[in-house]
Amino acid sequence: MKGLILSGGKGTRLYPLTYTRAKQLIPVANEPVLFRVIRAIRDAGIHDIGIVVGDTAAEIREAVGDGSRWGVGITYIPQSAPAGLAHAVKESLPFIGDDRFVMFLGDNVIQGGISSLIRQFADSHWNSQIVLTAVNDPRQYGVAELNGDGSIKRLIEKPKEPPSNLALVGIYMFDRHIREAVHAIKPSFRNELEITDAIQWLVDQGHAVHPYIHKGWWIDTGKPGDMLNANDHVLEEVSPRIEGAVDAASKVDFRVTVERGAVIENSVVRGPTIIGEDTVIRDSYIGPFTSIYHHCLIEFSEIEHSIVLENSKILDVPYRIADSIIGRNATITRSEIKPKAIKMNLGDYSQVGIL
Ligand code: TTP
Repeated sequence: MKGLILSGGKGTRLYPLTYTRAKQLIPVANEPVLFRVIRAIRDAGIHDIGIVVGDTAAEIREAVGDGSRWGVGITYIPQSAPAGLAHAVKESLPFIGDDRFVMFLGDNVIQGGISSLIRQFADSHWNSQIVLTAVNDPRQYGVAELNGDGSIKRLIEKPKEPPSNLALVGIYMFDRHIREAVHAIKPSFRNELEITDAIQWLVDQGHAVHPYIHKGWWIDTGKPGDMLNANDHVLEEVSPRIEGAVDAASKVDFRVTVERGAVIENSVVRGPTIIGEDTVIRDSYIGPFTSIYHHCLIEFSEIEHSIVLENSKILDVPYRIADSIIGRNATITRSEIKPKAIKMNLGDYSQVGIL
């Protein structure tokens, strides 16, 4: 089997972070979401992986390279336009050939691995296997309606009146019949070739599409709140380790990871939390569910339930920062320059909540 990771798209819902960075490279628990997806596919025994890329191709190539870090081979597949998930499959057909393959959305985070799913599909005669999970608000997702015997009746993209609470998780398995499906379907009202329409076509043609109901958590990291949610879940999975330096005046609890070269001085750090490589935490409080990426500096400040990206500084901030995502090379500091006011230099689409 082959693997296909979709890492094109626009990422508009994650502006301003995704103005300057591919959303699949935003880290949760200090590991880019895309790297986690590559590991999941590799751990399922698949070593031939295609990555569909769009405008952020250069950044993704630079971060992922040839895949040797994970012991896999990577083929980059430029998508001519972000025209839908089925369009991405269509443009990947030369890579896929007649092989069975798993397609994984590069911005999805799922609990556990996908080995058993892959094995089940590889050993079966099914033409496709899709993964479903129960969600609270199905109107935002592709939704499946099942027949009494558990087989798929129909799939609908973002229904106004959902027929069930079973959403399509961003993992799909196909055999060569998907080739005909992506050629047969027409663009939707939003002018995209929808994967739900391609799967519906398979069902309508009498091909075997098997639904698998996933019971653990699953997060589509489309929006900032989802990113924090994914970070919470993944931090709970991390096996804590202290590779950096923690001084005697600091209190670092047992659920904290301190990566190589990080320094914690006179601070309190409560887990689950991760402090990235060469980051310095001084005279500060870092609360639970926080990921501070590499080369950051936090001094005389308090932060919890947040993600801070690389090379950022939080210095002398008089209020506790919570529920926040702070981009790369950002500085938040107290200003002595008069007038006494909050002074900001924010990118487009930034959001700030003030006390
Ligand atoms: P989406 O989150 O559905 O789309 P998007 O990335 O354009 O985001 P937004 O809606 O915020 O603008 O995409 C899911 C995944 O599939 C994501 O990793 C990007 C990828 N993708 C492609 O590779 N090609 C495409 O044509 C589309 C639509 C998405």
